[in-house]
Amino acid sequence: MRVLTIIPTYNEIESLPKTLQRLRLAVPDSDVLIADDNSPDGTGAYADEIAAKDPQVHVLHRKGKEGLGAAYIAGFRWGLERDYDILVEMDADGSHKPEQLPLLLAAAESGADLVIGSRWVPGGSVVNWPLHRKILSRGGSTYSRLMLGIGVRDITAGFRAFRRTTLEKLDLSAVESVGYGFQVDMTFRVARLGLRIQEVPITFVEREFGASKMSGNIVFEAIANVTKWGLGARWNKLTRRG
Ligand code: GDD
Ligand code: MN
Repeated sequence: MRVLTIIPTYNEIESLPKTLQRLRLAVPDSDVLIADDNSPDGTGAYADEIAAKDPQVHVLHRKGKEGLGAAYIAGFRWGLERDYDILVEMDADGSHKPEQLPLLLAAAESGADLVIGSRWVPGGSVVNWPLHRKILSRGGSTYSRLMLGIGVRDITAGFRAFRRTTLEKLDLSAVESVGYGFQVDMTFRVARLGLRIQEVPITFVEREFGASKMSGNIVFEAIANVTKWGLGARWNKLTRRG
């Protein structure tokens, strides 16, 4: 199966080199697409340098910071046009261990429509996260699970593998979330199609360099959308439209 690993970047010049190097070593068969939002720190130019030397590395330059969701949608479109069978999402900052990607790929190859590298299933863990991030992540997952009625433990997780058929069944242009709520959005869409979602435990390691792009707006967008989708689904059920 042809695999494309999409890495969204915004100011990851200190982290991307090591992450790319580890990924190319751990999963040499996977092609890589770096989706850079015109990072002021030169991440996009660095990615171009690597791509010039390594035919398996590609770069998608976007005009400005438009959020994680928009970068991934553009990356999925790029990959679907090029006949990849599995499209992977991975952070640039080393939090997702490239060495654990084979676990996700194995699950996708054995039939899961969406594989989620999960911090919050038995065997999963988080290294070096402050308490408030743990609470936010677990709390956000629990709230989303109850609100949306789906059983995924780590619904905001950003280490994922989609089969191309899963993405083809979704209307990508309808995905509106720009921040990390994008992950919840995608999960809910896949679940509503009745497709198979499998969580595999991963070890998430907090970044060593650079800064998280998490912000109050991103959290607010996610909570507001989950509440809207959850209430909308209930309303549809009540009025028998869903
Ligand atoms: N192109 C682009 N545009 N990339 C972005 C943007 C953006 O606007 N915002 C963030 N990124 C990239 C970062 O450069 C990094 O590679 C990845 O997306 C994750 O961003 P972080 O800022 O490192 O996220 P985090 O560590 O706070 O959050 C982690 O947990 C979230 C909640 O569980 C990540 O794993 C997220 O994917 C996850 O949703
Ligand atoms: Mn991070």
